[in-house]
Amino acid sequence: MKLVEPQRILPQDKWIDLVLEQFRKSEPVALPTETVYGLAAPADDAQAVARIYEIKERPTFNPLIFHVREDWDLNQWAVMNETERKLIDCFWPGPLSLLLKKRNVSDLVTAGSDFVVMRAPRHELFREVLSAWGAPLVAPSANSSTKLSPTTATAVLDDLGAKGVSVVDGGMCEFGLESTILKVVDGKLQLLREGAISREDLKDFEFTETTSDVPLTPGTQLKHYAPSVPLFLFDSIEKWQQPTSHREACWIKVLKSDGPDFIQGLRVECLAPDNRYKTAAAALFEFLRTGQKNYSELRVLKTQDISLGRAINDRLLRASQR
Ligand code: TXA
Ligand code: MG
Repeated sequence: MKLVEPQRILPQDKWIDLVLEQFRKSEPVALPTETVYGLAAPADDAQAVARIYEIKERPTFNPLIFHVREDWDLNQWAVMNETERKLIDCFWPGPLSLLLKKRNVSDLVTAGSDFVVMRAPRHELFREVLSAWGAPLVAPSANSSTKLSPTTATAVLDDLGAKGVSVVDGGMCEFGLESTILKVVDGKLQLLREGAISREDLKDFEFTETTSDVPLTPGTQLKHYAPSVPLFLFDSIEKWQQPTSHREACWIKVLKSDGPDFIQGLRVECLAPDNRYKTAAAALFEFLRTGQKNYSELRVLKTQDISLGRAINDRLLRASQR
């Protein structure tokens, strides 16, 4: 693991000191999590939080996830009921975020809301930084607003390196999809963002399908994760297979079993040759990032809405919005 800055890789043994030094200067640092890389900064430092919005060019109405260690006294920052406690016991540390009634969390972090989205990441390097800093960090995905989320240190630098962002290289993220965001309503779960924890993983809990006219998570507006070339999402194999006028088009499927391996003599790219959704999820954003460099059109076949396939389809649908 190393702290990479544009043009230089800093000494490996000092990486944590360098991260803390940046935080003391109110400068965010990109850190790996088990989902995607996050642009982290101390949650109680208004200047550092403002820098995050500036670097990401993120609208200020879109709040930030509050990252903690699960073994801290969480009552300092939020009120939790029995179901929320149970979810925390079952899934933390890990890729599950909860919308909770906040206590002593700055309006800058929550964009003025009385609720905070909290999560305890499982990635060892992120946990080390939390322990060393000793206080919560905010960390949105380390990408420019609406662009692809980064799952490698190189992806972070490609997008944000020119803005002077440093990144701790923890290799490729395990899940490759952001955390699932939930709200508990009368003891039942309301899914606010599909993510790395699937509905199947949450089968011991009851869901409510209640939806709100106002998106409860302002960042889940439809256009998001936009590659720089058009991405078309098909739910029918027939339509997906049709010829296109683009010479550099790429046909993509999620699982090997989703469709044919060749179309018009061209090889179909597959996110999970081993046919596992976990493999497909981990590959998704990096695949789109490379795809946008090598092709002029990405033609993707939707996968089934089961397990992580649901969150993969969600990201693909957003990536297809122009
Ligand atoms: O896996 C993850 O959650 C990653 C890693 C880095 O931890 N973080 C992440 O953050 O995905 P971000 O900012 O890219 O997405 C956070 C989502 C946004 O849709 C935002 O609107 C919503 O969470 N959110 C955050 N705080 C909220 C709040 N107080 N109320 C409602 N929605 C909130
Ligand atoms: Mg994001």
